[in-house]
Amino acid sequence: MTRVLFVCLGNICRSPMAQGIFAHRAEQAGRDLLADSAGTAAYHLGQHPDRRTLAVLKRHGVFLDHRARQVQDRDFERFDWILAMDTANLQELARRCPEHRRDRLARVLEPVGGGDVADPYYGGTEGFEENFRQLNEAADAWLLRWV
Ligand code: 4NP
Repeated sequence: MTRVLFVCLGNICRSPMAQGIFAHRAEQAGRDLLADSAGTAAYHLGQHPDRRTLAVLKRHGVFLDHRARQVQDRDFERFDWILAMDTANLQELARRCPEHRRDRLARVLEPVGGGDVADPYYGGTEGFEENFRQLNEAADAWLLRWV
């Protein structure tokens, strides 16, 4: 089994979307993947994902049940991979991560050309659709690596 944690800022928009997409794609491919998500910030602890994230996932047939939580020190030992949505969150993870686990940190778009999954919080629904498109593409690429 591959265990992967997706990380954004608030853990209500991008990282829960990634969690839902990767779990869905893995299940479709018959792969054993444990997907979870967390935020580097504590603004939204215990909250459901943003309704715009849930709407985009539902439109694409992806089910998700998650409550926001913050990254914990023990996450660095529990997960095989910790994939950040953007550079700022990767830097925060790297700051907190024990040195012997730093090679397990990456940006989620790294295998599809790099770049950031843009923060969609203050924008419209098209930002969430673009997040979905990027994360769906990244899921295929990561699943190929995790054979
Ligand atoms: P996320 O989006 O990091 O993708 O969950 C955000 C959610 C909330 C805030 C910022 C980004 N916020 O500032 O409250």
